[in-house]
Amino acid sequence: MRQILYISTASPGAAIDVAGILAVSQRNNRRDGVTGLLWTDGHRFLQVLEGNDAAVQRVLDRLLSDPRHRGIAVLHDRTVAEREFGAWEMARRSASDSADAFDVKMDGFLATASPTVRGTFEGLIAARRAA
Ligand SMILES: Cc1cc2nc3c(=O)[nH]c(=O)nc-3n(C[C@H](O)[C@H](O)[C@H](O)COP(=O)(O)O)c2cc1C
Repeated sequence: MRQILYISTASPGAAIDVAGILAVSQRNNRRDGVTGLLWTDGHRFLQVLEGNDAAVQRVLDRLLSDPRHRGIAVLHDRTVAEREFGAWEMARRSASDSADAFDVKMDGFLATASPTVRGTFEGLIAARRAA
C-alpha cells in the first residue's frame, strides 16, 4: 500500500471552495479505493493519501496540475503494510466547533495514524494555533 503525505499552500486569489474539493475527492477516492485525511484552514493544505500505487499516482498527478494550490511538497512517499485511514475524512473546523471540539475530532481521525503522520498534522495545527 502506497502512502503519500504532502503539504501545499492555497494559490493567492484562488477561491477555495473546501466543500467542492471534498465532494469531488470523496467521489473519486471512493471509486479508486484511496483513503486519507485532508486538513485545511483555507490557507494551507496537509493531506495524506493511501491506496494502490497507480491510484495514488493518478490523484497526485491531478493535484500537481490543480491551480488552486501551489508549492506542493511531498513530505513522504512510502509503503505501509496497512491503511492508516480506513475512511476518507476531511478535517475542517465548522462554525459550531470549539477549538477543543476540533482537537477531539482530529485526535479521532489520527488515532490509527503512524507517529510520523500524526506528528506532522499535530505540528501544523499547533503552528496555526500559535500564529
Ligand atoms: C488541496 C486539494 C486536495 C485535493 N484532494 C483530492 C483527492 O484526494 N482526490 C481527488 O480525486 N481530487 C482531489 N483534489 C482535486 C483534484 O486536484 C482535481 O481537481 C480532481 O481530482 C479532478 O477530478 P475530476 O476529473 O473527477 O473532475 C484536490 C484538490 C485540492 C486543491
